[in-house]
Amino acid sequence: MKSRILITGGAGFIGINTAAHFIRRGWQVTLLDNLSRKGTDINLKWLSREHQKHFSFIKADVRYDQKVLDREVARHDAVIHLAAQVAVTTSIADPRADFEINILGTFNVLEAARKAKTPPVVLYSSTNKVYGNLEALKIKEQKKRYELAALPNGVPESQQLDFHSPYGCSKGAADKYVRDYARIYGIPTVVFRQSCIYGQNQFGVEDQGWVAWFIIALLSGHPLTLYGNGKQVRELLYIYDLSALYERAIEKIATVRGEAFNIGGGPGNTRSLLEFFSEMKENHGLKQKLSRAPIRQGDQKVFVSDNTKIKKILGWMPKIRVEDGIPALLSWVNENRGTIASLYLVR
Ligand SMILES: NC(=O)c1ccc[n+]([C@@H]2O[C@H](COP(=O)([O-])OP(=O)(O)OC[C@H]3O[C@@H](n4cnc5c(N)ncnc54)[C@H](O)[C@@H]3O)[C@@H](O)[C@H]2O)c1
Repeated sequence: MKSRILITGGAGFIGINTAAHFIRRGWQVTLLDNLSRKGTDINLKWLSREHQKHFSFIKADVRYDQKVLDREVARHDAVIHLAAQVAVTTSIADPRADFEINILGTFNVLEAARKAKTPPVVLYSSTNKVYGNLEALKIKEQKKRYELAALPNGVPESQQLDFHSPYGCSKGAADKYVRDYARIYGIPTVVFRQSCIYGQNQFGVEDQGWVAWFIIALLSGHPLTLYGNGKQVRELLYIYDLSALYERAIEKIATVRGEAFNIGGGPGNTRSLLEFFSEMKENHGLKQKLSRAPIRQGDQKVFVSDNTKIKKILGWMPKIRVEDGIPALLSWVNENRGTIASLYLVR
């Protein structure tokens, strides 16, 4: 199958990179976004420059524009639903907006798919936050990092769900809806419980997109706060690997429909925050005094995905190692310093 794809939240970080991937692979791409995230205008200009308008863009809101969704979802073969409120902190400050965007917005996309004459494939970007703080798991505290004592391969999909924070609840509810629309209505849906994704075109802020945020702040001298003791471990997945996975899942939809998968860099691509800062200093000469603050609500001490299920079914594994991905992101930030500086000044 190679045809028309709709990407909601398409002007955001994952959306714009995924759009570029699908355009390069010969798909007709439509982006839908309400442009609420800062930097989306820059992303759209970048995509136009790179791909000379081989895509169309619709400004719409997944909460309110049901008619637009009905029309657009029905005329595409696949939908990647990325539009979302994306930060835990913002969800705590405004849980209603988080609820409406993430639950109602996803429900609206699913309803559009259900009403379509031929329902498209629907991929949903869920999150590892649906597993909560993993309180029942034994966590080892090492000198510079936390580790999952009993899960050297990471957290599998059989881990008990434990929605934590309004963001965890809204993404988790949407995750359940997406899977159930496969079960009840036969819509070919797939859920990806993604961990930390990083890469170019990521205008990270303190609340979301931490790798990009730290790199931008280190390069620009923006004040930085370290929440908690810095031993929190995150796995990192470079955006190109994720976009490639989306395409493979659509092409092999018969084998993955109705499933949920944990998707991340896996045990070979993890960093604690302390390790990350040491690496920045030692390998790239970037350092800065960090302010300290208590750990934030809903912050996991450690999360690493067990990618075994997706590897077994689709043969997918991350290809880009953190050792290569971080310098690639660093180069992108360096090359785009002017644009990035203007964006961060007006925040
Ligand atoms: N980046 C990560 O590390 C990560 C990890 C796990 C899950 N995810 C999920 O992946 C998806 C994309 O994340 P991202 O990192 O690209 O974030 P992003 O903020 O860059 O992209 C989200 C896009 O959705 C748009 N949007 C927000 N509300 C909207 C609405 N009501 N209607 C239409 N568009 C709206 C924003 O303008 C933005 O362009 C989200 O669903 C997020 O929860 C991301």
